[in-house]
Amino acid sequence: MQLDEMGLLREAALIDGQWLSRDDMEVTNPATGGVMGHVPDCTGAETDEAISAAERAMRDWKKRSHAERANLLMAWHDLMLSHQTDLGKILSAEQGKPLAEAKGEIAYGASFVRWFAEEARRINGKVIPVAGKKLLALKEPVGVSAIITPWNFPNAMITRKVAPALAAGCTVVIKPSDLTPYSALALGVLAERAGIPAGVINIVTGRPEVIGKALTESPVVRKLSFTGSTRVGALLAEQCAPTLKKLSLELGGNAPFVVFDDADLDAAVEGAMQSKFRNGGQTCVCANRILVQAGVYDAFVERLAARVDALHVGPGDAPESDIGPMINAAAIEKINAHVSDALAKGASRASRQRDLPANYADPVVLRNATVAMQLASEETFGPVAPVFRFETEDEALEIANGTPFGLAAYFFTRDLDRAFRFGEALEFGLVGLNTGAVSNAEAPFGGVKHSGLGREGAQEGIEEYLETKAFHMGLAAT
Ligand code: SIN
Repeated sequence: MQLDEMGLLREAALIDGQWLSRDDMEVTNPATGGVMGHVPDCTGAETDEAISAAERAMRDWKKRSHAERANLLMAWHDLMLSHQTDLGKILSAEQGKPLAEAKGEIAYGASFVRWFAEEARRINGKVIPVAGKKLLALKEPVGVSAIITPWNFPNAMITRKVAPALAAGCTVVIKPSDLTPYSALALGVLAERAGIPAGVINIVTGRPEVIGKALTESPVVRKLSFTGSTRVGALLAEQCAPTLKKLSLELGGNAPFVVFDDADLDAAVEGAMQSKFRNGGQTCVCANRILVQAGVYDAFVERLAARVDALHVGPGDAPESDIGPMINAAAIEKINAHVSDALAKGASRASRQRDLPANYADPVVLRNATVAMQLASEETFGPVAPVFRFETEDEALEIANGTPFGLAAYFFTRDLDRAFRFGEALEFGLVGLNTGAVSNAEAPFGGVKHSGLGREGAQEGIEEYLETKAFHMGLAAT
């Protein structure tokens, strides 16, 4: 891989401003299966050092003015955008998504840094009127924060957590996915260049069970923010219970995407393409179940299949690629199992079949999907679009809400009454009406039920890193 600045590809962990280099773990390129490089497999003791560094750095960081923290965040933001192509190339190589999409993620990631740099200036407390004294509600940083991030958005899931933490006055220890550490480490290089002091951002690479244990057991860490599976989220919550940490958990989804007879069908197909095939379907908010009303079912399936037939599947560095390789063999195995199960239970292919190398998944539209199929109750996390038929609004609602997950839901209708009725009845944290996109820095992002706790982005995102202190001031009567 050729970068304008090869120094952005850092094969080292970042602890207290020192780069710790060791060739312990391989990082592979999912398109080629080749080794991209190595990173240290940090020990529990090294993670503890990172936690102590964050604790020391926070003494000064939390006292800096909000404006100063905002300026440093903006400097970091500007460096991300001026290195967008190099960061995109690193991300595409380690994660697999096409370069154009990877560069889009860098811009998306930077948008959180900008948003929270701006929000830093608006961390306001309150003055509460009480007889005989002054009562202030003060906002204070929660403390050293552990940030555990996934492989599907190796840049944006870090900035969505770290930017509000830093804006609030917290310091962080980041554990990036062991599959995609280089995007995180490049962010560390740029944070250093932006002037963010040593110890404010620490990045430990290695095995999740070792680093996760040290982070969750530490009494110094007061906050954990995690994006990943519901199973691991629940495990981390359990590990955090003895030290009662504040938690943000962005977990699995099983998004319904509902198209009513009165929908603008072109917009619905466009929305389905956007939602379903973003990052090759490896997104928590991707449509997992496409429900289409009987009157437009055949027309929708036909149009969606034509769009899917036109998709180009190939390596992320080929300009024509729309979908890159899947992250690993386990991902391919799950996708294939879901498709085989659906076909065995009566679904049929509505789109063409491609002959692809083993690390790629064939994007497919499946006609006649039913709730008895595995893909109705589990997140496929791949480019599989099963289309379910429904007759009535009540039936659509029952299927849509018939999941323990509650992250994102989408629906398409031109009926205003239904828009409110159905949108309010959906049991999800994010709802898209006539759109396939629900992710931006200004929107509170997060789920209900098994999809997690807390919100990221928006004004809510910074509250996750703040505590409120009630400061009662007994004053002489004036
Ligand atoms: C995710 O898949 O976890 C996040 C997707 C997004 O930010 O839209």
